[in-house]
Amino acid sequence: MTVAGSEQHSSGSAALGHRPAVVADPSPSTLDGLRQTDFARLDNGGHIYMDYTGGGLYAESQLRRHMEVLSGGVFGNPHSINPTSAASTALVERARASVLRFFNASADEYEAIFTPNATGALRLVGEAYPFHAGDRFLLTFDNHNSVNGIREFARARGAHTTYVPSVPPDLRVDLPLLTRYLQDTAGDHHNLFAYPAQSNFSGVQHPLEWIEQAHDHGWDVLLDAAAFVPTNRLDLGRWHPDFVALSFYKMFGWPTGVGCLIARHEALAKLERPWFSGGTIVAAFVQREYHQSAAGPAHFEDGTVDYLSLPAVEIGLDLLSEIGIDTIHARVSSLTAELLALLGGLRHSNGAPATTIYGPNSTEARGATVAFNFLHPDGRVVDERYVDQVASAHNISLRTGCFCNPGAGEVAFTISRDTLLGGEFGDALTLEDYIEAIGLPSGGAIRASFGIVSNQADLSAFTRFCDEFIDLQRVPDGLPPRRGC
Ligand SMILES: Cc1ncc(COP(=O)(O)O)c(C=O)c1O
Repeated sequence: MTVAGSEQHSSGSAALGHRPAVVADPSPSTLDGLRQTDFARLDNGGHIYMDYTGGGLYAESQLRRHMEVLSGGVFGNPHSINPTSAASTALVERARASVLRFFNASADEYEAIFTPNATGALRLVGEAYPFHAGDRFLLTFDNHNSVNGIREFARARGAHTTYVPSVPPDLRVDLPLLTRYLQDTAGDHHNLFAYPAQSNFSGVQHPLEWIEQAHDHGWDVLLDAAAFVPTNRLDLGRWHPDFVALSFYKMFGWPTGVGCLIARHEALAKLERPWFSGGTIVAAFVQREYHQSAAGPAHFEDGTVDYLSLPAVEIGLDLLSEIGIDTIHARVSSLTAELLALLGGLRHSNGAPATTIYGPNSTEARGATVAFNFLHPDGRVVDERYVDQVASAHNISLRTGCFCNPGAGEVAFTISRDTLLGGEFGDALTLEDYIEAIGLPSGGAIRASFGIVSNQADLSAFTRFCDEFIDLQRVPDGLPPRRGC
């Protein structure tokens, strides 16, 4: 597929290695044309899609190209050596090469390992990182639960976990504290530092410069790039994190069920997999209880990779390259600036603000994800379940809750550690009871996010939706129970 006005082509690593200047004019013709052709289903169905951080959308041409690949060949399980198996292996290796090319990652330095999603990539690192007593796991409050969960692997093996808090109102990291923690490593130990390149809660972009700072003090760096890469360039020729986790559906909608761990060879060599499985070994014996691990990415890809979905990865990456990730970035940045101005300017008739924004209110070092709550004229937070209902009535897709990022939420809603220890929920206490017990004003925030074909019309529809909350004194009774975050 060729996109008119594209400024970057995917045909070779040289083109991808070149970083075009950020487009000042966000190429309206390219993106708006694409919306009318390849994403026509959005406007045909009257959809206002503002949950790109939850899941990206695919261009219809991606599906056609993918189906052409599948209908043009015969593909068997890649673990054999027969002709159809070899054809599948070729697809897998093409996809692998396209990932390295897209991120400008040298094959001499990096390996692309396919996983079911970003979570699968994070788990691979967590379960195989050689944590021992005295080792350190350092992470930001602002992290997805799939990163938070790594602390359980660390804990089980006696490593020490340390969290670096975020600071309100911008929800950026406490830099002096981070600097202190990064300097605090002990000689012979393994140290893993994990943070998101972009917060899936507040949109804050944490500095990629931390990677080298952490390396200087002996940390291995795990960069969660899941929320960053759909609308920002990650150049692995310039930045050298040890591990990068991402999900492809967040970048270009299709395929779901495929993610990637992009890892430095050197870092991979440190990992100690806790088991073996089909695909990860060259040979295993039952009577001798011996196995020989496979070399390269196969060692980390459990079972059969999703080989029929993998061609769609290259197709999706091609689409982003053809449009230009910088073009998408410029478009979503300008929409985010307008959204922030809209939300920040909303007032009730009594002059009181109608929203509160969690995170930076400028586009400086932030992505196209905005978390906020509507406020009643007396300053109370509008119940997010009602916001969901009104959004649905406007055919707007957005997200409510804490977005699997409890640390960012705890800071945003100023919930202290002591408050959290005040009540445990489970059988005895429902989520509703717990929210009341800890004094949360609502069940979480509202999150709006932009992506590949977001446009002014989305923003206009969103403005009409916001108007529904002006002078809203109370929400109706009978809201549905919360589902948790
Ligand atoms: C920053 C971040 N990390 C990790 C994940 C987990 O992604 P997945 O559910 O695709 O594994 C998400 C998903 O929202 C995310 O936003």
